[in-house]
Amino acid sequence: MNNIILVGFMGSGKSSVGRFLSQRLNLPFLDTDQVIEQDSNLTIPELFNIYGEKYFRLLENQLFEDIIEQKLSNYVIATGGGFPCYLKRREKFKSLGDVFYLRNSKKELINRVKNDSNRPLKFKINLFNQREFCYNSIADQVINCEFMTVEDVAEEILFRRE
Ligand code: S3P
Repeated sequence: MNNIILVGFMGSGKSSVGRFLSQRLNLPFLDTDQVIEQDSNLTIPELFNIYGEKYFRLLENQLFEDIIEQKLSNYVIATGGGFPCYLKRREKFKSLGDVFYLRNSKKELINRVKNDSNRPLKFKINLFNQREFCYNSIADQVINCEFMTVEDVAEEILFRRE
């Protein structure tokens, strides 16, 4: 399954870079948060408020199994910040394609995430450290995105894929 998969903390630019890349390469784009919102007819904050985080993780797991079952190929996939970290079958994640971790500094992420009402989870240093471990363990490539534009990050991904 030859997909480009973007992982990283909330606010790291996965959706913007993913959308840009998909247009640049003329490939279909899948944003896991968007699919979950469409399928459930609820926003992410609503899902967290009404059903709780555990239920949201269940939906992420179901979506992951669907992607594997459908053998989705040649997609650009932007994942929610926790998506790869709560999978029951995380060992299958890499089989989806090339995994890029869009890494940003804590300072930058805090700035981007604060005051964002679309994100039910807030920046916490423990969460950041746990996630950093998770992303590093599954990424084929780590891209230090600080001071890079969306276009720059996309070009760097293409360069590293060659
Ligand atoms: C989450 C990140 C969010 C979204 C949900 C949970 C997380 O996605 O999936 O709020 O656990 O880090 P973004 O990374 O696109 O903000």
